[in-house]
Amino acid sequence: PLVTTTEMFKKAYDGGYAVGAFNVNNMEIVQGITEAAGELNAPVILQVSKGARAYANHTYLVKMVEAAVIENPNIPIALHLDHGDSFEVCKSCIDGGFTSVMIDASSKPFEENIALTKKVVEYAHDHGVVVEAELGTLAGVEDEVVVEAGQESYTHPEEVEEFVSRTGCDSLAIAIGTSHGAYKFTPAQCTRNEDGVLVPPPLRFDVLEECIKRLPGFPIVLHGSSSVPQEFVKLVNTYGGAMPDAIGIPEEQLREAAKLAVCKINIDSDIRLAITASIRKHFAEHPDHFDPRQYLKPARQAVKDMVAHKIVNVLGCDGKA
Ligand code: G3H
Ligand code: 13P
Ligand code: ZN
Repeated sequence: PLVTTTEMFKKAYDGGYAVGAFNVNNMEIVQGITEAAGELNAPVILQVSKGARAYANHTYLVKMVEAAVIENPNIPIALHLDHGDSFEVCKSCIDGGFTSVMIDASSKPFEENIALTKKVVEYAHDHGVVVEAELGTLAGVEDEVVVEAGQESYTHPEEVEEFVSRTGCDSLAIAIGTSHGAYKFTPAQCTRNEDGVLVPPPLRFDVLEECIKRLPGFPIVLHGSSSVPQEFVKLVNTYGGAMPDAIGIPEEQLREAAKLAVCKINIDSDIRLAITASIRKHFAEHPDHFDPRQYLKPARQAVKDMVAHKIVNVLGCDGKA
């Protein structure tokens, strides 16, 4: 069924796992994600960014998600607005069938973040929809907001209690060193292991733990949680792509976070990477193919495999539907 995240997060918090929130913008992505979740009996969140809504159209996205709900009756599916940046876009999703919205006013001053978040929460709750908010800024690109690596700011744990109680938000995204996109750290921010492989700086578990202490029982969200698996980067680069120094968050650290209060982990880039690696390889091996089904079918399978891997090895939400 199509649900809010309330029950999902409660079970995830108590069970020491997280629910995956995967970005969707076309049919193959919706199908790949929900087929994996359906087969693994895993709850799942399908999230739509402002850019995805502009690309695919609100109605197409909602109807595709509704189709996925019908095709996978055994699992709870939430439809979430990712990085809503205004009351109007949140309202439009609340009125238009979403069960959850994010209002991301994290780039605004604290009081403005509170005021806008509170306004969205009031409207959402009146309509049975839940709200994710954000405190702290991640490096990388969040829709139009670009934050240079090194310019991000970790969440201040001393602010979270006041923020949550004054806004009434249902979950909170915090900044502990994750970032958006496939280039989460510059090589200069990393060290190298004995094999010469770049090792990123670890997530700030101290900040996470401080936030948890101040918000007992409250669901925390991590954005920017792709791991940019190097075998996929290699495939892209082998088959004509150029993604030098692409690097993500080590999966073991996300698994640790999922055991704590982190109930929602956002993954977009790894799906993009799986699709692109698959299609590049396919074209290199089949230069004569021109029926989109020939390369979109394996690409959809690559999405499914990636999501299944995340569910079992990172999120720990298999069998939790
Ligand atoms: O946080 C950003 C998500 O990965 C969505 O990206 O705005 O390019 O659709 P997008
Ligand atoms: P990634 O770019 O790490 O996949 O993060 C996605 C995200 O946070 C969407 O909101
Ligand atoms: Zn995000």
